[in-house]
Amino acid sequence: MPAPLIDPFGRAITYLRLSVTDRCDLRCVYCMAEDMSFLPRAEILSLEELERLAGAFVALGVTRLRLTGGEPLVRRGILTLIERLGARLGHGLDELTLTTNGTHLAEHAGTLARAGIRRINVSLDTLDPGRFTRLTRWGRLDRVLAGLDAARAAGLAIKINTVALRGENEHEWDALIAWCGEQGFDLCLIETMPMGDIGADRTDLYLPLSQVRAHLEETWTLDPTEYKTPGPARYVRIRETGRRLGFITPLTHNFCEGCNRVRLTVSGRLFMCLGQNDSADLRGALRGSENETDLHEAIRSAIARKPKGHDFVIERRAPAVARHMSVTGG
Ligand code: 5AD
Ligand code: SF4
Repeated sequence: MPAPLIDPFGRAITYLRLSVTDRCDLRCVYCMAEDMSFLPRAEILSLEELERLAGAFVALGVTRLRLTGGEPLVRRGILTLIERLGARLGHGLDELTLTTNGTHLAEHAGTLARAGIRRINVSLDTLDPGRFTRLTRWGRLDRVLAGLDAARAAGLAIKINTVALRGENEHEWDALIAWCGEQGFDLCLIETMPMGDIGADRTDLYLPLSQVRAHLEETWTLDPTEYKTPGPARYVRIRETGRRLGFITPLTHNFCEGCNRVRLTVSGRLFMCLGQNDSADLRGALRGSENETDLHEAIRSAIARKPKGHDFVIERRAPAVARHMSVTGG
């Protein structure tokens, strides 16, 4: 057995987020500019290469794998990759999960569940059809809702990820909490992060979750929980609905201490921290060698550079991190 991946701060790296495409069928206003340019196809790893890379991480002690995008379900052939990765569950891999915008869930939920996925995160920022279309620039809420129904029917546990947007969804918390309660979904609120040019000023959209939480406490009883996922969210349980509510607050709270994760882009760049620009090219190691030893060494030397934490600050100048969230999938 190869030694596990331990970073310079003693954190064991057991969680890989794998972006299988930087493309998306939506253009959420806080995420991308409308005329977003995507990676040229020549730079994109094949599904076989993605599987080999994922396998290398599992061999080095990664037990949880999350597929992200862009929108993972728009990548051609993705279900085959999911099935192949699912076959590794119980053989080093403990959990396979997916983050999706839900637009293609109605067709694929059953396949995902059969492949061994047990829970998914679905990004949904509003329950208002008109606002949904405006925020995503052309998306249709009814498709996502149909996808959610299909996912629940397939037995998938669902967490809704909602980015808190000043002047947009800030009057929807009560409706979202009540709806998640009825539907049996957990909910996680996320602060906007200064990543990538969006063709507009993100500062106006930034809403600190400390404010949201104070407001929620006027209506709902937020009980503390011990619940922890491998992610950075802090959870409470809402007494009135019985469902969990998470807060991801990269800007008001530093969540780096317990960081157990790294992120791989579809061009084979490994980002050791979401909020830093440093990355390691694993595509070279992948294509340059047939044996896994060199690839393992490339992964180890990247982990040895993992920084202590991020330096996000919301400010009006250039974003803190130049790449878009859709490159690493959050
Ligand atoms: N800040 C915060 N969240 C973002 N997302 C995309 N871009 C940003 C950003 N700049 C969210 C998506 C999705 C998750 C993967 O990241 O809405 O829920
Ligand atoms: Fe696509 Fe997600 Fe970005 Fe929206 S936030 S444009 S759904 S990648």
